[in-house]
Amino acid sequence: MANLLDRLRRVQDVAVEGKRMVVRVDYNVPLADGRVVDDARIRASLPTLENILERGGVPILITHLGRPKGKVVPELRLNPVATCLQDLLGKPVRKLDTCVGDEVEQAIEEWQPGSVILLENVRFFPEETANEAGFARQLASLGDLFVNDAFATLHRAHASTLGIADYLPSYAGLLVQKEIEALSRLTDGPEHPYVAIIGGKKARSKLGTLRDLVDQVDAILIGGGVAFTFLHAMGHNVGGSIVDESLFDEILLISEKAEEKDIPIILPSDAVVAAELSDTAETAVVRIDDIPADGIGLDIGPETIALFREKIATARTIIWAGPMGAFEFSPFSAGTAEIGQALSQSDAFTVVGGGETGEAVKKLNVEEGISWISTGGGACLALLRGKALPALEALRD
Ligand code: 3PG
Repeated sequence: MANLLDRLRRVQDVAVEGKRMVVRVDYNVPLADGRVVDDARIRASLPTLENILERGGVPILITHLGRPKGKVVPELRLNPVATCLQDLLGKPVRKLDTCVGDEVEQAIEEWQPGSVILLENVRFFPEETANEAGFARQLASLGDLFVNDAFATLHRAHASTLGIADYLPSYAGLLVQKEIEALSRLTDGPEHPYVAIIGGKKARSKLGTLRDLVDQVDAILIGGGVAFTFLHAMGHNVGGSIVDESLFDEILLISEKAEEKDIPIILPSDAVVAAELSDTAETAVVRIDDIPADGIGLDIGPETIALFREKIATARTIIWAGPMGAFEFSPFSAGTAEIGQALSQSDAFTVVGGGETGEAVKKLNVEEGISWISTGGGACLALLRGKALPALEALRD
């Protein structure tokens, strides 16, 4: 695979003094009770913002939050994000209630050195996801240069990620560069054995990744909700566990491909089951084929953890995407915690991909020792699958 950093225009190579810099960031962060719950994506954007501010540029930030489908959704306004950014950056953040028009132009005119302007959630405009040229041009007209530091949104061809680059000289921010440097170690001649650990609630969102990773890795370990659909497709009884039967044909094709290539796909041999998903649920550990009809598999069991640990211990490169169970609830967090611990103890090059898995390793306190925790979910997996990311291609010479 070509070096992903090749011909990338970099923000640090351009003079920014006195320049209006439209910076696309990804502040699509979880909120609860009007506060940011996980600020990792906001923190990750600070080096680029500090670099621009130190060199006298005028940062005008654009981000999306959630999927408001082109309408103003009050709960998805960026006010909590602005508060969090201001605290982390230690500089004034002027948050506006729109993205284009007189109010924005005036705020840019009134800009005070050392401060940051944050536009409102760009997905309140239907033109954003439609990558509408007129809207992209309007966003571009706010600046002299465009910096894309929204790594987690690079797989989206939207007005603020792709269209805008048609109208302004465009550069990669420092986070985008760091992410690509780290993930290139997986795509450009990774050290073997290379092991992929795939989990998460929804099997559908992981099948493409699994199909493509079979061509790259030496073994695949599957946990989380994905595992139960896989197990059922392979003829196992999974009791009351959640499965998506519409994926069975695709799963059988992936298994055949893996078998042909002699790549083991390792599925759980035991599971933690319960009748309900709650912090006080009564749980039992059972062998996979013994899950009762009213039992839902909600975590991998101890035997599976031990097996996965063995594979992790001998790997030289590891990608982990998707929790091993419903880790938000304490009775079902052991699998995710132990796999996180195994990664943090491993001396392989270890990468955690995806917002949810990143959140899990932080919540369970196992982030230390992991080589790279990507801020991207879909973008990270698309890159590892060898897909071109449209918004990234727009930043190359
Ligand atoms: C993400 O969280 O993966 C990115 O912010 C992209 O969000 P999206 O899937 O709503 O485009």
